[in-house]
Amino acid sequence: MAEPKTNELMEKIASLCKRRGFIFQSSEIYGGINGFWDYGPLGAELKRNVKELWWRSMTQERGDVVGLEATIIMHPKIWEASGHTSTFSDPMVDCLLTKKRFRADQVEPQSGVVFRFDDAVEAAAAISSANQSISDMPDGEQKEKLLRGVQKEVQLLRHALNLPRDQVFDPMELVGAFVRKYGRQGRSLERSFSVLVSSETESARAERVAQDFYEKQGLIAPIPRLARKEQVKDSKGFNSENGPGKGAELTPPRPFNLMFKTYVGPVESEENVAYLRPETAQAIFAQFKNVLETSRQKVPFGICQIGKAFRNEINPRNFTFRSREFEQMELEFFIRPDEAVEAICGKVASAAEVSNIEHRTADAQPSTLNPQPQPNWGWEAWHSYWVEQRIRWYESIGLPRATLVEYWQKPEELAHYARATVDILFKFPFSKRDDQGELTGEELEGVAARSDFDLSQHQRFSGKAMGVFDEELKVAWAKLDETTKQALGQRYQDARFAYLTKSGVAAEQAAWDAKADADGLAKGQYIPHVIEPSAGVDRLILALICHAYSEDQAPDEKGKLETRVVMRFHPRVAPIKVAIFPLLKNRPELVRKAEEVRELLRPHMAVFYDEVGAIGRRYRRQDEAGTPFGVTIDFDTLGEKGPELKDTVTLRDRDSMKQERVKTGDLLPLLLEKVR
Ligand code: GAP
Repeated sequence: MAEPKTNELMEKIASLCKRRGFIFQSSEIYGGINGFWDYGPLGAELKRNVKELWWRSMTQERGDVVGLEATIIMHPKIWEASGHTSTFSDPMVDCLLTKKRFRADQVEPQSGVVFRFDDAVEAAAAISSANQSISDMPDGEQKEKLLRGVQKEVQLLRHALNLPRDQVFDPMELVGAFVRKYGRQGRSLERSFSVLVSSETESARAERVAQDFYEKQGLIAPIPRLARKEQVKDSKGFNSENGPGKGAELTPPRPFNLMFKTYVGPVESEENVAYLRPETAQAIFAQFKNVLETSRQKVPFGICQIGKAFRNEINPRNFTFRSREFEQMELEFFIRPDEAVEAICGKVASAAEVSNIEHRTADAQPSTLNPQPQPNWGWEAWHSYWVEQRIRWYESIGLPRATLVEYWQKPEELAHYARATVDILFKFPFSKRDDQGELTGEELEGVAARSDFDLSQHQRFSGKAMGVFDEELKVAWAKLDETTKQALGQRYQDARFAYLTKSGVAAEQAAWDAKADADGLAKGQYIPHVIEPSAGVDRLILALICHAYSEDQAPDEKGKLETRVVMRFHPRVAPIKVAIFPLLKNRPELVRKAEEVRELLRPHMAVFYDEVGAIGRRYRRQDEAGTPFGVTIDFDTLGEKGPELKDTVTLRDRDSMKQERVKTGDLLPLLLEKVR
């Protein structure tokens, strides 16, 4: 089948999500609320499965990561330390005409002619001032011309006063009617406004947009005064959403902080301001010491958390992709600084030395090789390791490597404290295409090497020590020769000095502190560095839904081919694992047997029981829900066609539509193997 176009496909996906209960608009009965989404019964199961699999892969399946569940509202100082209060903002522009708000970097560039108006005057005022000169003037051609010159104002005023079209009015009579209605002669407004239209011939259109603007500023029947026209190319200063020839001016960009503000306690004062967390990560840093002390972990180790995050996005878009309330799955993996690794191991392994990492290719099959972390790994190796681990996890839940893009941020794109960041992108249907027509992908997850910035910030802002003591380092350091001690100590001191000065500490103080930090390193003390794989649950759900959606042809009850919508979820994430169908609902022996099978499977997986409608229809419903397996209980199960088939059921595979006979007793282990 031909692939549906992007918009058409996203519309089909959004419609299926609503129809089958994956995702609903929040507060829909009140018209919805932009940027907020609810998950229906199938969506909720899908989301729980994804979170459960992530949690299991991070914690139960490895010994070096522990979990945390922190509050959404935390001490506001946390957001000062993290930099969110001062810098967590997007550049925002407003359309002067519609008041709509956009992210400046998302405005489409436009070319054409800009009509710039300096001010506007109400038609009544324009007529009055013209009339002064008209009345002083002797009759003649010039007076006629002046009278003709106010015809536009007359028309505008007549329209504004709602007077009949076909009646002829004396200009000053109209001004009198205006004064009676509004109690004034008319006024002007000195405020400039520009409109971008596609060519000079569209001056009337530009003027209409400007009139609309000045009307919205409170002028009645305004006449905008054109100051100049100019040709522009790829300008991002005009609203492209108003349609061709209606490019109203945008304000200059200004920062807009994305954190949702609230007040703790009954008094809405500045000292009670708090924020809904914009990421889950900061709680992990703030609780680092408590977790370290209670979990008996040692660096390198990680703390992970799943939870809600809130961002007052300027422009939520692409269904759930950019939402204002969403969930994150974040890991902060704490590692030794490279100087400590070198002191202990003699040498730091580079990323290329990490087994199999150089073998990655875009279309490689999931590899069975699993690099085991080594004591000589520095930040580069750990970073590459986590990128690879995360991609493998996506593969394990049904997103093939070929649907993902590993995007290494360029040096100019990196946050000042980050040493490297890899964005893992998924090729969503709405992603932009490159020159070859390939989807470029949109971010699912960022894997950042954040140096020791986060814990250092919390140490400075809270005044509480965030460093660790590393016995192995202390012992190893004592055995180093003086030259190595000197070289490693100096490198560490330089790095700490760079961090401190970039964070605003005065040079003299920073030099003192950096020296003290280097002295600490020699005694086995340091602030751990961090690798942060940070994923969005909702974006992943959308990626899974987009990837699962497919249409094919399947025969209906009468053997006629019809379009079948199938959600090809990996059985691990599928909301319902197996559907149970008694062939006929009016045969108690079939129903009884089907209920027995349901009870057999129910304690182990999500099961759906359906006895309504023709069996083909029931299969279709489950195909749309993405249920990978269907079990039909028929007369063979009862042994009516021979004892050899007694207590066997038909197991149908959603994707191949193949059916096989399976003994009821074999069903549970067989299904468990497929869904785990
Ligand atoms: N602690 C790092 C951090 O929060 P981020 O790149 O801002 O990094 C991490 O967010 C992930 O959270 C993103 O890769 C994305 O999956 C998800 N995310 C961020 N903003 C989102 C939004 N407005 N709607 C849905 N998911 C979002």
